[in-house]
Amino acid sequence: MTNPKSILITGASSGLGEALAIEYAAPGVSLALSGRDKVRLMAVCDQCKSLGADVHPTVLDVVQTDKMKAWISDFDQAHPLDLVIANAGISAGGGNAGESEAQARAIFDINLGGVLNTIWPAIDVMRPRKSGHIVVVSSLAAFTPLPGAPAYSASKVAVKAYAESLNGALKDDGITVTSICPGFIKSRITDKNDFPMPFFMSGKKAARIIRAGLNKGRATKRISLVFPWPMAAVSWLTGVLPPCLRRWILLKAPQKK
Ligand SMILES: NC(=O)c1ccc[n+]([C@@H]2O[C@H](COP(=O)([O-])OP(=O)(O)OC[C@H]3O[C@@H](n4cnc5c(N)ncnc54)[C@H](OP(=O)(O)O)[C@@H]3O)[C@@H](O)[C@H]2O)c1
Repeated sequence: MTNPKSILITGASSGLGEALAIEYAAPGVSLALSGRDKVRLMAVCDQCKSLGADVHPTVLDVVQTDKMKAWISDFDQAHPLDLVIANAGISAGGGNAGESEAQARAIFDINLGGVLNTIWPAIDVMRPRKSGHIVVVSSLAAFTPLPGAPAYSASKVAVKAYAESLNGALKDDGITVTSICPGFIKSRITDKNDFPMPFFMSGKKAARIIRAGLNKGRATKRISLVFPWPMAAVSWLTGVLPPCLRRWILLKAPQKK
């Protein structure tokens, strides 16, 4: 959708969500922003307000199904939503100790359950209008599941596949669903990485690429947006290698501490 005027973003209190909120903030734009950390969320809201946007912050955990539904439908009644970005997500350190069961469950609850809690209330309000754009933030990890991040990789595979299937399933409802698969972006997630991150980019640059890509893809009901292309090419090629070769390469990949 070109120049959406009513936008909802989860995980807007830092990293990519913060950068997207600032990228879209402008006079005439209403933003519904959520996160769990009130101090960081309010700081982002202040920046967006200074850019002229009408900003509505909500401290809310994406795993709270009923509260998410109420938040999204209440905001939509006052500001019919053009664009909903299911961005909130977490990762965990694998490291030598491996990923714990508790970490794996939390990742699935937030990265998968939280996405469902965002997109279904959005579908419910957009469907009667036959208009709207839903964006799900996946990752290049969806192309090459990493031994250092099993639940994270699996959650990103799941939401990518789900968004891309929904793109077709909702084609007659006038709703576009797009998966976003970025490489390394500066954020609280990557701040913990102590290994080289090829084509590392700022949140601001990633947000610009995403906004431009979503605008360009409006006519084609864009199914996915994958960047930066050199990392995308490597991830895709690694994903289609014979399994034993892929295993050998991926076991050499660096792990989060
Ligand atoms: N950074 C990268 O290189 C990269 C690459 C590919 C994909 N991604 C994806 O980009 C998205 C944003 O992550 P990021 O890198 O920007 O990391 P980040 O700086 O840690 O931001 C994550 C955001 O998600 C929110 N969040 C986490 N759990 C939540 C929950 N249960 N309920 C509500 N909000 C929650 C956080 O809010 P609070 O801190 O307030 O809880 C924060 O605003 C994630 O889906 C991530 O997987 C990131």
